[in-house]
Amino acid sequence: MNVRDSEHMIAELNCKEPYELTQELKEADLIIINTCSVREKPVSKLFSEIGVFNKFKKKDAKIGVTGCTASHLGKDIIKRAPVVDFVLGARNISKITQVVDKRHAVEIDINYDDSSYAFGEYRSNGFKSMVNISMGCDKSCTYCIVPATRGDEVSIPSNLIINEIEKAVKTGAKEVMLLGQNVNNYGKYFTANDEKCNFTKLLQKVSKIEGLERIRFTSPHPLHMDDEFLEEFASNPKLCKQIHVPLQSGSSSLLKSMRRGYSKEWFINRCEKIRELCPEATISTDIIVGFPGESEEDFEDTMDVLEKVRFEQLFSFKYSPRPHTDAAEFDRQISNEVSGARLTKLQARHTEILDEIMDGQMGAEHMVYFDELKAGGKVSGRSDDGKLFFVEGSEELLGKIKKVKVTKTSRGALEGIVCA
Ligand code: 5AD
Ligand code: SF4
Repeated sequence: MNVRDSEHMIAELNCKEPYELTQELKEADLIIINTCSVREKPVSKLFSEIGVFNKFKKKDAKIGVTGCTASHLGKDIIKRAPVVDFVLGARNISKITQVVDKRHAVEIDINYDDSSYAFGEYRSNGFKSMVNISMGCDKSCTYCIVPATRGDEVSIPSNLIINEIEKAVKTGAKEVMLLGQNVNNYGKYFTANDEKCNFTKLLQKVSKIEGLERIRFTSPHPLHMDDEFLEEFASNPKLCKQIHVPLQSGSSSLLKSMRRGYSKEWFINRCEKIRELCPEATISTDIIVGFPGESEEDFEDTMDVLEKVRFEQLFSFKYSPRPHTDAAEFDRQISNEVSGARLTKLQARHTEILDEIMDGQMGAEHMVYFDELKAGGKVSGRSDDGKLFFVEGSEELLGKIKKVKVTKTSRGALEGIVCA
């Protein structure tokens, strides 16, 4: 979502005057640090980064801080680092052209409504496009700062979404990634009373777009994975067979104190349903260890879900207490030592599972969409189920979907040859 927000800001700036992207700090006239605040680490990194940028930047270059940390720290960023020229919250990025020439402007209104706003055009990869379908989040998971930084949930009108995807397809994109904090809750919060469209219907509408071949989405919530949605996921050939099902914890009592709204049994049942309807689908997840009150048994429940579901990809984190969240005030915070040991155990077991999955891929064939040239005469792309592939080849593979046979496996990616 942050990557798409960055693209939106670039697009808006370019509507005002032409900008050119640079990787060279010394060349930049404008430096934008687009931030995350979901865990504490990126927040503490922000101020050291500002210091480095300030030291090496051109004399008159401006520095802006945008995104979730901007939303939650606001003018305190300028107080702590007066070298920062403007602060723009995650919900306010369309105002980039208004603040870019101001000194110490701060725009962080979390209820600002960008939903009917058509952003300018910019995509960092012409073969794929990311399209926001909703903003904000209506949940209040007790560990999560996002509702405080991205505001109330709003669904973007479906005609705007379709228009945006059609434009991207006309300029070469065969794949779209639909984005929302809570993507499969789409349709609950339209600003126009007459619009009626849920996530499943939106997927059906999007898949009618001619020339669009692949649809991905992130991040769905397990609670909203009803049978209708999973049946659409399994039966619609344009929907890529890769699904993120964020677990957070395998313990029903911890899920309750996280306020996730589902139990261990519900989670496993949804994953079994995915496997039953669509055995070829890969399932990824997010897990937090060391949430306040997490006992050994709670953690073993998480390990048990890992064993049962055998996630293809795991994003795992030590719990990080965040401001504006209930869990930061909970008793029984878990020591860093215990969380660290649990994270290591979880990741080690997942690595074994992943190695088994990837080893089993030798000789398998996948349809791969090539979208990036790599060094050393290689081209990379992803299979329908989200595996990263590298093959030998050149520009002529870009933008094409080809059958590839796996010739070499590793934990993170597969190598293969393009079948005739
Ligand atoms: N501590 C650790 N991880 C967190 N996440 C969200 N909030 C926290 C927190 N306070 C994780 C969740 C979420 C992912 C984006 O980040 O797993 O799904
Ligand atoms: Fe945060 Fe929960 Fe909303 Fe996800 S669903 S953004 S974890 S509050």
